[in-house]
Amino acid sequence: MKTAFVTGASSGFGRAICQRLVANGYRVIGGARRMEKLQALERELGDNFIPLALDVTDVNSINAAVAQITEAAPGIDLLVNNAGLALGVERAQVSSAENWQRMIDTNITGLAMVTHAVLPQMVKADSGMIINIGSIAGTYPYPGGNVYGASKAFVRQFSLNLRADLAGTRVRVSNIEPGLCSGTDFSVVRLNGDMAAVDALYRDVQAILPEDIAATVAWIAEQPAHVNINTIEIMPVAQTSAALNVVRDLPAC
Ligand SMILES: NC(=O)c1ccc[n+]([C@@H]2O[C@H](COP(=O)([O-])OP(=O)(O)OC[C@H]3O[C@@H](n4cnc5c(N)ncnc54)[C@H](OP(=O)(O)O)[C@@H]3O)[C@@H](O)[C@H]2O)c1
Repeated sequence: MKTAFVTGASSGFGRAICQRLVANGYRVIGGARRMEKLQALERELGDNFIPLALDVTDVNSINAAVAQITEAAPGIDLLVNNAGLALGVERAQVSSAENWQRMIDTNITGLAMVTHAVLPQMVKADSGMIINIGSIAGTYPYPGGNVYGASKAFVRQFSLNLRADLAGTRVRVSNIEPGLCSGTDFSVVRLNGDMAAVDALYRDVQAILPEDIAATVAWIAEQPAHVNINTIEIMPVAQTSAALNVVRDLPAC
């Protein structure tokens, strides 16, 4: 039986990925801070889902989690680095430094440190797969995207650089970059619980769903051992790139 470690398993993509991987025959270890949500998922999925307290911003928590996993399973075949968050939609000049720090700690440092803790055992086994959850925000700039988008640009480049370092091994690395997705807590967190703003964001639009991302993870994981999917960008049909912005009423320089 293959073992998967999914970070951010308590809601949204992570939860759907755990459901899908257990259905596909994996033993799944799901990490997050909200244990009560993970325990509810354990009740739903049974013995092949193992909940694990994990705060990716705390290196001791990461090391304890990986030590616990290594005790319970022979090795991690699949790491899904999904834990992440956006905080705020304000423009950079008026945004909160605290929010910036938390996004950097979670999306950049957290993802890098979980990878750092898991990678040696994969290289030693000369097998394994890491699937990172980036975002289209790492490629396409938009007002208010500032540090969140930059953190996902890190995920994109980190994924590619890992591939460069892993040349000559059979360890694989992929980056999934989703666009607008509903059915997760992402926007509730980003908009600090302002449900009117959350509803406005998803009004009259068919967004992608966590199940779509879970299906993408499952598809990547099923590829034959000689195939590495580098990057997948996935948007709802209703979402497209915007034109470049031109400000027409600026006084001449
Ligand atoms: N939804 C979208 O439109 C969208 C689009 C592109 C990319 N993404 C990315 O997809 C990933 C999942 O987001 P989602 O939409 O599923 O949002 P979500 O429902 O809010 O899920 C985020 C998950 O990350 C976990 N998490 C946050 N901080 C953590 C920490 N310090 N330690 C451990 N776990 C932590 C949360 O668990 P706890 O709070 O229990 O710790 C939760 O399980 C994120 O990386 C996000 O940036 C989302």
